[in-house]
Amino acid sequence: MTQLSTRRFLQTAALFAAGLLLAACGKKEEPAPAPAPVASAPAPAPARVYVVGTDAAYAPFESQNEKGEIVGFTVDVVNAVAAKAGLEVKFVNTPWEGIFNALGQGDRDLVVSAVTITDERKGTMDFSAPYFDAVQLIAVKENSKVAKFADLKKLKVGVQTGTTGDEAVSKLLGKTNTNIKRFESTPLALKELEAGGVDAVVADNGVVINYVANNPGGKFKTVSDTEIAPEQYGIAVKKGNTELLGRINKALGEIKADGTYEKIYTQYFGARPAAAEKK
Ligand code: ARG
Repeated sequence: MTQLSTRRFLQTAALFAAGLLLAACGKKEEPAPAPAPVASAPAPAPARVYVVGTDAAYAPFESQNEKGEIVGFTVDVVNAVAAKAGLEVKFVNTPWEGIFNALGQGDRDLVVSAVTITDERKGTMDFSAPYFDAVQLIAVKENSKVAKFADLKKLKVGVQTGTTGDEAVSKLLGKTNTNIKRFESTPLALKELEAGGVDAVVADNGVVINYVANNPGGKFKTVSDTEIAPEQYGIAVKKGNTELLGRINKALGEIKADGTYEKIYTQYFGARPAAAEKK
């Protein structure tokens, strides 16, 4: 650098620094910018998220995948209903025992967990129109002699506590019969059958069929009996929540009418839904 250009450089630098200083000082003295004008419409309330309780140990209806996400037929149906009804929903894994208390206390807005609509339950919660037909199915070992429901009378029978399977077996064997082995989940009862701790398991057909198909090593077979009353699943809401129930029923009707429901059903169960499920 020549002497001249060095001087010029220093001058320029000094000017630049002074300018910066001025700018900084000026800024300090400037009044704070006026706040942006407030829009006349109030800010939209954060979207209400409806919490859906489900006991996610009930494939293919509701279960957890490797990532811990709750997936299954129930989830797809509820998401389709929610989309039509304009509801934002979030599934929360909830143990079956206590799931209805959680609904009653408002910890869950909906319970969708392959819940059978029963008169007794209708006393403490409200149900949507039915969305699935089910029936109790008996799972036994391949070499079992059980051919009908009544054959379970003298046997050890596994059920999930508080399910309609529990109710049916309690009726047949007597509620306090120690031959009834009650489990926290249906897969646990079926594991006990595989281990030989019980002679049979009574649970919803869809779950039993799925488990047997996925556990060929268990050497199970299933036995059905038309003596057992058929059941239907419904979406449960807190008793008296007619506003939410109305929206759900409307949306459920829409997904049945426009083919969405049938698409989901076929994806999980292959066959087309029975007429009752299309109503
Ligand atoms: N449908 C039967 C009932 O309502 C069993 C449902 C159990 N559901 C579950 N996700 N564990 O009693």
